[in-house]
Amino acid sequence: MPGPLPSQWRHRYGMSRTVWLTGLSGSGKSTLALAVSESLHMQGLACVVLDGDVLRRSLCRNLGFSAADRSENVRRVAQVASLFNQAGAMAIVAMISPLTADRDTARSILGAHRMLEVYLSTPLEVCERRDPKGLYQRARAGEIADFTGISAPYQAPPHAQLVLNTGELALPDCTSLVLQALNAPS
Ligand code: ADX
Repeated sequence: MPGPLPSQWRHRYGMSRTVWLTGLSGSGKSTLALAVSESLHMQGLACVVLDGDVLRRSLCRNLGFSAADRSENVRRVAQVASLFNQAGAMAIVAMISPLTADRDTARSILGAHRMLEVYLSTPLEVCERRDPKGLYQRARAGEIADFTGISAPYQAPPHAQLVLNTGELALPDCTSLVLQALNAPS
């Protein structure tokens, strides 16, 4: 049976938007992005996950971790998210995106009304304890330069619409809060 028309979805949920998940490595961005996306899919909504770790192997594979390269990384992904939004699909971005100025650029590309900025405020100690890829250990050992939170800055968003500490909140709660912020049923 065919699903509802995109125009009906827009009526139901408002316009297509980008959920921009920012936070330290290991804060849970990818996990939350997948959970939110799965939930939106189950509600019949077209949704794409744009994950920094994944895109750095394709669209952004020529970029490193200097401030200039991170800016370019954010700009490219914001442009892609915007294209999806214009086509009527939701986008969930999971990127450290450590600098306020770069996230502001993303907002101007997407349109402020389309971007839901979600800050995963999970403290460095918690992310470092998780260390899912062993990168913090390597960064502490001096094997990785410019590592966010250790030897490169992370600027917390001053006005995020949602702040989630995944060290205290469980995944289903974080997912529900994002869906609520989108006015989608959880
Ligand atoms: S961003 O800063 O440009 O937004 P992005 O989210 O795309 O970063 O990629 C971050 C991922 O790259 C981390 O989760 C980690 O797996 C990996 N990584 C490798 N080197 C670094 C580094 N120096 N700083 C942060 N993350 C790094």
